[in-house]
Amino acid sequence: MLRRLTPDQPESFAFTPANLAWAKEQIKKYPEGRQASAVIALLWRAQEQEGWLSRPAIETVADMLGMDYIRALEVATFYFMFQLKPVGSVAHIQICGTTSCMLCGSEDLIAVCQEEINEKPFMPSADGKLSWEEVECLGACTNAPMAQIGKDYYEDLTAESLRGLLKDFAAGKVPTPGPQNGRFAAEPKGGLTTLKGKSGEAHNGSVALAVEIGDTVKRIDGSEVPLWKAPVPVGRQEAVVEKPAPKAKPKPEPKAEPKAEAAPVVAYSDDDKPEMLSAPQGAPDDLKKIKGVGPKLEKELNGAGVYHFHQIASWTAKEVAWADDNLLDGFKGRISRDNWVEQAKKLAKQ
Ligand code: FES
Repeated sequence: MLRRLTPDQPESFAFTPANLAWAKEQIKKYPEGRQASAVIALLWRAQEQEGWLSRPAIETVADMLGMDYIRALEVATFYFMFQLKPVGSVAHIQICGTTSCMLCGSEDLIAVCQEEINEKPFMPSADGKLSWEEVECLGACTNAPMAQIGKDYYEDLTAESLRGLLKDFAAGKVPTPGPQNGRFAAEPKGGLTTLKGKSGEAHNGSVALAVEIGDTVKRIDGSEVPLWKAPVPVGRQEAVVEKPAPKAKPKPEPKAEPKAEAAPVVAYSDDDKPEMLSAPQGAPDDLKKIKGVGPKLEKELNGAGVYHFHQIASWTAKEVAWADDNLLDGFKGRISRDNWVEQAKKLAKQ
């Protein structure tokens, strides 16, 4: 399938403050020089925030990770989980159309989507609340046919039950995920033939958790309490068993490796702010030629009064330390890490 960015793009994208803080923590997980490894996590959070991935969102993520835009675009356009045009403002319905689901009636489900939402996939309903697409097997084949809606699965669907779900979502309700035909999980339709002991719970584990979290079609702004930090709900506490730590096998002593030298910390004061210009002297230089500078960073540099290679080339170690900490919002350490001064010196000579 040809996956292209939609021509209607927003002017800009910004993570919410909480999502930005989260993104910076993700980036820290990777060793120096390997920040690009966080690309899928950050693109996914941008999509969770907005519902889809716009070009400014992809470029913002690329800037944060020091990647060329084409590299981030390659990732966003390769993985089908990234939506490249706006989806329904309430929910995007993903109908599984693979073998089990197709044999059990997914074509009827798609017909309902075409009738109730839009004739074409990825196009919004008249009120903009819903959209749909057909996807490959979602791994819930024993509960075919099924659909993923938001973050949860709705299983054992019929045309009627899907129609009801769509009405509920459009009305702002969030129907209980899981089997929609009365099954508890994936047991035989005629009832259990073995392991008949009842758990007494209303929902299977996945559905119980989905109901508990309650964020099926919610956009994520970063203020949510991560699951592992949330208090354990009453009634589930007994189920939390402290696992004894596994006995550690004695490890062979690792061979001593020469330690990489840490970059020296340069102390600076406010007097070490590099000289900035109120306007470029003639035509400004293309600062994007410096590795790690994209259009967004270039704009920030120009806004601060940096227009020319010779300005950066003249920065002392203290001025670099000042600029690293104060010049670029969210890109601390980038200037020394990518050695902008040496790069700028070479570019200034060309
Ligand atoms: S075929 Fe639909 S979930 Fe596997």
